Amino acid sequence: MYQAPRGTQDILPEEQAYWRYVEQKAAHICQLYGYERIDTPVIEDAGLFNRSVGEGTDIVDKEMYTFDDRGGNKLALAPEGTASVCRAYLEHGMPNLSQPVKLYYIASMFRYERPQAGRYRQHRQFGCEAIGSDDAALDAEAIDTAWQFYLSMNISQLFLALNSIGCKECRPRYLDALKEHYLRHSEKLCPDCNIRLVKNRMRLLDCKKPSCQPVADSAPKSVDYLCQACADHFSQLQKHLGLLDIPFGVNHRLVRGFDYYTRTVFEVQPAGGGSQSSLGGGGRYDGLIEELGGKHTPGVGFGIGVDRVILQLKDQKIAVPPIAKPQVFVASIGDEARDEAFKITASLRRDGIGVIQAIGSRSLKAQLRQANTLGVSKAVIIGDEEVKAGTAILRDMTTASQETVALDRLKDLLK
Ligand code: HAM
Repeated sequence: MYQAPRGTQDILPEEQAYWRYVEQKAAHICQLYGYERIDTPVIEDAGLFNRSVGEGTDIVDKEMYTFDDRGGNKLALAPEGTASVCRAYLEHGMPNLSQPVKLYYIASMFRYERPQAGRYRQHRQFGCEAIGSDDAALDAEAIDTAWQFYLSMNISQLFLALNSIGCKECRPRYLDALKEHYLRHSEKLCPDCNIRLVKNRMRLLDCKKPSCQPVADSAPKSVDYLCQACADHFSQLQKHLGLLDIPFGVNHRLVRGFDYYTRTVFEVQPAGGGSQSSLGGGGRYDGLIEELGGKHTPGVGFGIGVDRVILQLKDQKIAVPPIAKPQVFVASIGDEARDEAFKITASLRRDGIGVIQAIGSRSLKAQLRQANTLGVSKAVIIGDEEVKAGTAILRDMTTASQETVALDRLKDLLK
């Protein structure tokens, strides 16, 4: 028997209410903050992610699903959404629109990770990108968008971790300091960190291996190496978060696993969970559009894991509205009545009334048992006598009381 691939899951009907609820909340928040929806392809040129997320990151080097299509093109299943949105921004002339351009997406992302609770190989992300301004107020607004999204679902006990990792002017000085610090401890580092030390120093602080933790904890802090413009930006951001009453803590080890970030990085973590259980994260990417061939265009955004948000809703015992089901069941006895019931069912549905029709030719008792199991509130019963009289029996499934009604009144009574 086939099974869903490891790290993927079927979203069964009973789970759909959560997904619909979260996605509707996302769409509502985006409307309030002026983000418009964009859908980009599931597949992209693999080079797009090598270029933006960066070679030397775990996502590109270890987790990306890359393949050659039949035409010999190297493609990848999107592991994240920011690069695709920036590609679309350039491809569709959005630099000519009024800036910032604010776009959101809800899409599946693919990463070959080791599956565990809340970590999948296919996950769904709600993301927002605001492209075309470097104003720190926009960073605060992006964080506020994410924050209000959680609050709109009554998710509580969240922690906002913040950091600034500088820009291409001040980063090199910080990377030198990191190198010096790590070289002093090189004998204690894991093999991956020894490679990171040469290939991608920013990623050193991401390491989760226990042996590397003391070295990472005592490493120089990026905020101490910011140029004046980045330092001003970071303090403006903190001022704006204060204006919005959003509590945060600065985490000097927060660098996030993508090369495109500049200045602001942030993550939202549930109380008690570390960065491994992050509910969402994002930051600024002022060099990304240029890296993809456009003019210098700053941007900021975030991505939120919908699967993890749903796990939080369940953990925090937050109920979501159920998806409405048909409330009417149509039963019949006899061949002629069955044809009539078939027509009545169709006509009720055309009038916007959800109906489940008895299928097959079971006894009336069995049909009503099915109606009971389905939890409908009304049953319409047609027998040969009702066909002749142009009537139907309308049964209240809760009280089991019945009345005979004229067919032409049925629609109004059910509505
Ligand atoms: P990310 O932190 O890699 O950022 O992913 C965003 C969120 O997606 C995470 O915080 C987490 O909730 C969820 N997530 C990530 N990987 C998995 C997984 N394997 N299973 C379940 N959930 C997962 C980005 O992708 C950036 N593009 C965000 C961004 C947008 N930055 C700027 N704009």
